[in-house]
Amino acid sequence: MEKAQSFQLVAMPHIIFGTGAIEQAGQWCAQLGSRALLVTGRGSLRRSGCLDEILSNLSDHGVTTTVFEGAEPEPSVNTVQVGRGRLWEAGCDLVVAVGGGSSLDVGKAIGALAGEPGEAAEYQRGRQITERGVPIIAVPTTSGTGSEVTPNAVLIDQERGTKASLRGDGLVPKVAIVDPQLTLTLPPAATAFAGIDAFTQALEGFTSIGANLVTDKFAAEALVHLAGAIRAAYSDGDNLAAREHMSLGSLLAGIGFASSRLGLVHGLAHPVGIASGQPHGRLCGLLLPHVIDFNLEAAQSKYARAARLVGITDDSDDEAAAIALHDWVTQLVAELGIGQSLSDLGISEEDLEPMIAPAMASGSTKHNPREVTEYELRQFLEQML
Ligand SMILES: [Fe+2]
Repeated sequence: MEKAQSFQLVAMPHIIFGTGAIEQAGQWCAQLGSRALLVTGRGSLRRSGCLDEILSNLSDHGVTTTVFEGAEPEPSVNTVQVGRGRLWEAGCDLVVAVGGGSSLDVGKAIGALAGEPGEAAEYQRGRQITERGVPIIAVPTTSGTGSEVTPNAVLIDQERGTKASLRGDGLVPKVAIVDPQLTLTLPPAATAFAGIDAFTQALEGFTSIGANLVTDKFAAEALVHLAGAIRAAYSDGDNLAAREHMSLGSLLAGIGFASSRLGLVHGLAHPVGIASGQPHGRLCGLLLPHVIDFNLEAAQSKYARAARLVGITDDSDDEAAAIALHDWVTQLVAELGIGQSLSDLGISEEDLEPMIAPAMASGSTKHNPREVTEYELRQFLEQML
């Protein structure tokens, strides 16, 4: 008998998944506090009517709410600073973050830093979070980032021109309410970007050097749900079954990668995001086929397993199956209208050098299945122009 593998899993929220789950928001809020700061984006939740429904649900359970509609698409640490000020002014004892990954990340950071005296930027630059924050309830309205279950928030530090994760146990939501119904109004491009982000996270979690037998189960299951539903959700946003599988896949990928960490796509997505200003999910889709190609030998058996799992091929030869995965992903990215090269994003040769150091320093790059040298990374980026 072989020895059982040792592993670690990070803390997870209490997770409520399913169509209609949002109706439980009020009762969960009432268990965790009495004054909520509801953090969301700039207007889309209000326009969809969803904000009013949530506010009335919270009010029915005796929870008063202050709304902070400040989360921008690629959020900055300044937004967290402003939002935390609102939380303090209103005396909130709970954060409810509702929206895409950016709203969840801003809400998580506000909640985690609620008890800290320093400027929000200091913590993103490395100051330790030592004071207890307030409980966070995360409600995703996209199926992509997995932020509802992860211990980090990706924020731009405008002063330093960097994009990086604020990380800590206090950022893990107490409760994640994942209701696929909330994703029905997501437009096709946002569906594509969020969906390919989720798929990338599942695949990078599966091939990460931090993967273990438990994270593999989550990543493998995520790949099956996402690969089977992404085209249907993109072409017919009202397809609730496709939306359910996308939300489930995104959630499962998040549970897996919260512990396994990711890979080179995510190591590069932040610096490329700073240079291009493009949405994170689009960058993941654009980078993914190139990174699979870069990792093809190092992660061959995992890529082959992924290809067989999602039904792309039943070829028993690992090399052929891994190539089939590469080709399938390339085709998918083309169908989703994501683009193929860095030039498609308006990036030119002089933009590449500033990307090297942050990409090399990224925890995601350090978990890539093929070790990356600076020389290889420079070559990789030049080839992607
Ligand atoms: Fe991502």
